[in-house]
Amino acid sequence: MSDGPANPKANGLTRRDLLNAASLTAAGLAAASLVSAPQAHAIPHKGAKHDPLEAFKYDIENSEGWVGEGGSAKEATVEEFAVSESIAGVSMRLKPGGLRELHWHAIAAEWAFVLKGNVRGTVIAPNGQAESADFGPGDVWYFPKGHGHALQCLGPEEAHFILVFDNGHFSEFGTFSITDWVGHTPANILSRNLGLPAAALAGLPKTETYIMPGKVPPAVPEQLRNGDPNTNQFPHKFRMGEMKPVVFPGGEERILSQKEFPIQTTLTAVLQDLKPGALREMHWHPNADEWQYYISGKSRLTIFGAHGRVGTEEFGPGHVAFIKQGFGHFVEQVGPEPTRILVLFNSPVYEEISISTWLAANPPSMVADNFGLTKEQVNLLPKRPQGIIG
Ligand SMILES: [Fe+2]
Ligand SMILES: [Fe+2]
Repeated sequence: MSDGPANPKANGLTRRDLLNAASLTAAGLAAASLVSAPQAHAIPHKGAKHDPLEAFKYDIENSEGWVGEGGSAKEATVEEFAVSESIAGVSMRLKPGGLRELHWHAIAAEWAFVLKGNVRGTVIAPNGQAESADFGPGDVWYFPKGHGHALQCLGPEEAHFILVFDNGHFSEFGTFSITDWVGHTPANILSRNLGLPAAALAGLPKTETYIMPGKVPPAVPEQLRNGDPNTNQFPHKFRMGEMKPVVFPGGEERILSQKEFPIQTTLTAVLQDLKPGALREMHWHPNADEWQYYISGKSRLTIFGAHGRVGTEEFGPGHVAFIKQGFGHFVEQVGPEPTRILVLFNSPVYEEISISTWLAANPPSMVADNFGLTKEQVNLLPKRPQGIIG
């Protein structure tokens, strides 16, 4: 790969720098802008100025969101949470019978984790195969980009689930609802395409309904309208809550990558449980950004963004965190309640390097020289990954 101006990462140029450069090109000022654009240095430069870390905490549950008769939705896209370019989240609640109408997402796949209640989802793939499945607490779904789907709450209680999209811009550029389309299509086209008489067309919604109240569907799923001819052989559902966890002294993790859930081609999920006082050890992810939703309990997250930049924020239920790819970080559990965190990565493969694994994989004398430690002190350093320290 060239290190010329076409490679923004190599030059330390942000997407915004490039957009600015593009608009300046039109004014014939491109060369000047590229010369003056900030450069990232491989060697420390005394007095060099670096932008502060971007805000990495967002209180999604405290936001206003969308509220209707059938349910509600609160979102964290780049609009609300600028750093989360690669992942967006929605906290959605459906009342019994509440229907998140037929829709698709043009620029993102949809992943979800059910926290409470039960929902029935239907989804269609481009090959015509369809699937209807019921989801309860701990269950996950993955609807690939562009696949049409709908969700309905089965009752008797309200359903609450966290939706995650593999694109921070999914909302403003990418949700296509069936009522929005039909409501903006001429009657003669609808009549020819749907075979409905004028009287029926007059009653169709004129604008996007999004979430509407509805009747609780029957406990035994109805046959699909075309008679279930072609059940999808590539399931969209995974029972994450039933996974066997990886157990550490300070807690446990359930890691759901594409290996375990083949349709999940763009994301990896981790359900992380921290005991009181636990420390999720210092680590980074070479291949992915990390998005976190705090389900219960509290924790302090500290991130390290090079050039001496570190930041710490405290997180509790309903807070969202975002850690850029490659940024170092650790999590300290705080308070008497255990902490449960839903974590998503924008890669189907899980990768992590922890500080203990790394230091164990180096010659002792080099580690001693690097830190100015004696060999005896180096001997005290861990030789295995610590994961979640008790
Ligand atoms: Fe959706
Ligand atoms: Fe992490």
